[in-house]
Amino acid sequence: MILNNWYVAGEAASFAGTGPFGVKMLGADLVLFRDSAGELRCLSDVCCHRGAALAVGKVKGDCVACPYHGWEFNAEGVCTKIPALGADAKIPKRARVDAYPVREKFGWTWVFLGDDMSQAPPFPGEDVYPEYDDPDTWRIIRTSFEIPVNWERTEENSIDGAHPSFVHKAFGSRRDPTVNIVPVVTDEWSASTTRKRTPPDRADKTGAMKEITSDNRGMNVATTKFFVCGIMNRTDIKRADGVHQVQLATRTPIDEYNTRVFIMQARNYLKEPEHDAERMAGIMQAREEDVGIVKTVRPHLAPRRASHDLLTEADQLETAFRRKMRELTAKGLRIDSDTVERESKRQVFVIPSPTRGADPKNWVHKPVPRLAQDSEAAEPLAPEAAE
Ligand code: FES
Ligand SMILES: [Fe+2]
Repeated sequence: MILNNWYVAGEAASFAGTGPFGVKMLGADLVLFRDSAGELRCLSDVCCHRGAALAVGKVKGDCVACPYHGWEFNAEGVCTKIPALGADAKIPKRARVDAYPVREKFGWTWVFLGDDMSQAPPFPGEDVYPEYDDPDTWRIIRTSFEIPVNWERTEENSIDGAHPSFVHKAFGSRRDPTVNIVPVVTDEWSASTTRKRTPPDRADKTGAMKEITSDNRGMNVATTKFFVCGIMNRTDIKRADGVHQVQLATRTPIDEYNTRVFIMQARNYLKEPEHDAERMAGIMQAREEDVGIVKTVRPHLAPRRASHDLLTEADQLETAFRRKMRELTAKGLRIDSDTVERESKRQVFVIPSPTRGADPKNWVHKPVPRLAQDSEAAEPLAPEAAE
């Protein structure tokens, strides 16, 4: 799991009211609450006194109060009150918890998890999903769910252009499984491919979709782009007959074994609300089909050694994703989750915040350890693109 990145904590609508709300991300427990101005705030959930969960405490004015002994923490994570010591208590400097920046975009609540915002990928702008603000052209449905698979394994699955022919008959051609090898367009924080794809046969479509599908509709053009930010991807599938669908999905690691997926799907066809249920059923069917396979993938966490599986040229976007993750590991941003798992029975590890980055001393809880760059990463990955 990668530090210094923005992740979706939840649907913005799920944080109505003052809270507090508990959320687990990157293996760490966090608490969100609204201050008296209505701003959503995010702190480490583990009270620095004796470790109770702030998420089961109470919001009091601009603070969240711990349920165990009533210590109050403000939006910066600083303890402002220790009731047992009386009104004149001198609050120790270490009486504080990490506080994380919060933003809202596309109806999702995002939290920055890390101690150095200068290393963050750009926060998504309108250009990532212009469909969101264009209801005349697009009908959008949205959903979120948790799946019992590793975040890298599910992201790789999501950007994989070869698997639909075998896993999803509703949108992968069973007749023609070839992947159109194209240049991968890459920048510092994203990569994409635009491929021609043989569409599935009309016989493999169902419901209203089948009604608007002919067998001689020509090739699809599919652009798949992943972003480091939020472990997000955008999948744009345009049919030759003008039917067009654009999906934006983010993947938040709950821990190394579970992922929370957030999806928006925009369509320019069958835009009447009565078609929403069938489209949503399509998303859920794809989820079941993908999870059914990805659950069986071994090892459960993506290998870090290139020789431990066999990527080919047809895995070109997955290869680009691994390359990005490898770059971030080399920058020291990957959490050493084996050590966290091994050592967290008697000590708490927290995600370090920007406040801690600027003032690293005088904290009660240790920051998560980071993986050191090692020789595994020096192995070459698969060929990425045809030149
Ligand atoms: S554990 Fe939080 S106030 Fe004591
Ligand atoms: Fe899939």
